[in-house]
Amino acid sequence: MKIIFATNNAHKLSEVQAVLGDGFTLLTPRDCGVTEEIPEEQETLEGNASQKARYLYDRTGMDCFADDTGLEVAALGGAPGVHSARYATDGHDFAANNRLLLKNLRGVTDRRARFRTVISLIINGEEHLFEGVVEGRILDHETGHEGFGFDPLFVPEGAEKSFAEMTPGEKNAISHRGRAVRKLAEYLHALEK
Ligand code: IMP
Repeated sequence: MKIIFATNNAHKLSEVQAVLGDGFTLLTPRDCGVTEEIPEEQETLEGNASQKARYLYDRTGMDCFADDTGLEVAALGGAPGVHSARYATDGHDFAANNRLLLKNLRGVTDRRARFRTVISLIINGEEHLFEGVVEGRILDHETGHEGFGFDPLFVPEGAEKSFAEMTPGEKNAISHRGRAVRKLAEYLHALEK
């Protein structure tokens, strides 16, 4: 089955492809002629995932899905949340985002945080939402070089190491995105039966 995934992030593409398996061919927006940046202007993860999937569906008429993820830090009232990508700057500057997070949590003992992913799937013109959450805590320094984004600062509950110290397989098994994508995969596999 061919389906468009609303991302041009190679890390995310390979994480999601690994969970969905070989039965699915993931296309990028670019593969389908959508080269402009897809708008995400909403104030919730659900709103953004939905806006991106609808945008792609309206332009291509093809089955598609989009995700939106936020890091929700308890001591910061759920920030950066839906603003995670542009926490420190207008761009996707992971290093600057990590520095700002460490600064905002300096001296804070409550380090609880969670990643939350929402996926909007549009299939046969109908929308379905899937959510994945992983609870954890924020370290006081970066550790590890795998993954992307806040991975060097996030240790999931029950683990001894950060997401950035895990193999892609280890991270996928417990991550927010892995959990949301497995729900998506179950739904899609059931449709194919
Ligand atoms: P997006 O909605 O998946 O683009 O995620 C928004 C922002 O959240 C990214 O720019 C990253 O800063 C952060 N983020 C999303 N997923 C992850 C992850 O798996 N690990 C670390 N940071 C992530």
